[in-house]
Amino acid sequence: MTQFDELAEIYEEFSRLPFRRELEFPSVLGVLGDLSGLRVLDLGCGSGVYSRTLARCGAGRVVGLDESGGMIDHARVRESAEPLGVSYAGGRLPAALAGGFDVVLGVYVLPYATTYAELTGLCRTAADALRPGGRFVTLPIHPGVHHDPGHYERYGFRLTTGRSPEDGSPVDLELRFAAYETHVTARYWSAATLERALRETGFGPVRWRSHRLSPSAAAGPPGFWQPYLSAPHAAILDTRKEDSPS
Ligand SMILES: C[S@@+](CC[C@H](N)C(=O)[O-])C[C@H]1O[C@@H](n2cnc3c(N)ncnc32)[C@H](O)[C@@H]1O
Repeated sequence: MTQFDELAEIYEEFSRLPFRRELEFPSVLGVLGDLSGLRVLDLGCGSGVYSRTLARCGAGRVVGLDESGGMIDHARVRESAEPLGVSYAGGRLPAALAGGFDVVLGVYVLPYATTYAELTGLCRTAADALRPGGRFVTLPIHPGVHHDPGHYERYGFRLTTGRSPEDGSPVDLELRFAAYETHVTARYWSAATLERALRETGFGPVRWRSHRLSPSAAAGPPGFWQPYLSAPHAAILDTRKEDSPS
């Protein structure tokens, strides 16, 4: 059992909130750019929200990978109800898929590494999945996350980090919207540690990318989004697997 096995439905609902629709998805998809024909692994795919979106965006092949049986079951049910050609794998990356991807996307998965070894393990899974030169785009907790637990409440969640979070220290994520309320324990990782883990697993320079609003949200009053944009709770890291030394 993992802390996510019973949470597929709430993550589905969470993905419908304005915060994700108007800010997170446009940011991630904007960073990914044109996916036409590309082979994409959705690492820590959860209920398959991004896997389905990537398929609709024209990716040539999409595989969702997650260690939570409950999440994978839910994602497969969605695929049967509305086939998009996404396949899902539970547990570890199947050996047959190693090196077979142009892009790995990992949204909110690095925060669930509880130790540095688990953090490098997740980065290594991404590296193993990619062809040389392939991209890894991933969203950890932002090292500059706001320390007021109520700062993100208007977006559907509260985050409690403590004043001086350190590598591996717990971050309480409370999803709180509509009739839902649940807690998940994530972990804080500093910028230096995230970059070290990526470097040690074969990735090149890391670009820290900015969030962007959807065109409709950008055309509206900025007040609602300003607190998030001034201190995003997640960073968007964009890096490439280095070519192996010959
Ligand atoms: C917060 S959910 C995010 C799900 C999805 N990416 C989304 O954006 O809705 C984090 C997911 O990462 C998965 N996860 C955590 N550690 C993992 C690991 N080592 N390997 C595969 N999946 C993992 C969890 O089971 C969970 O489904």
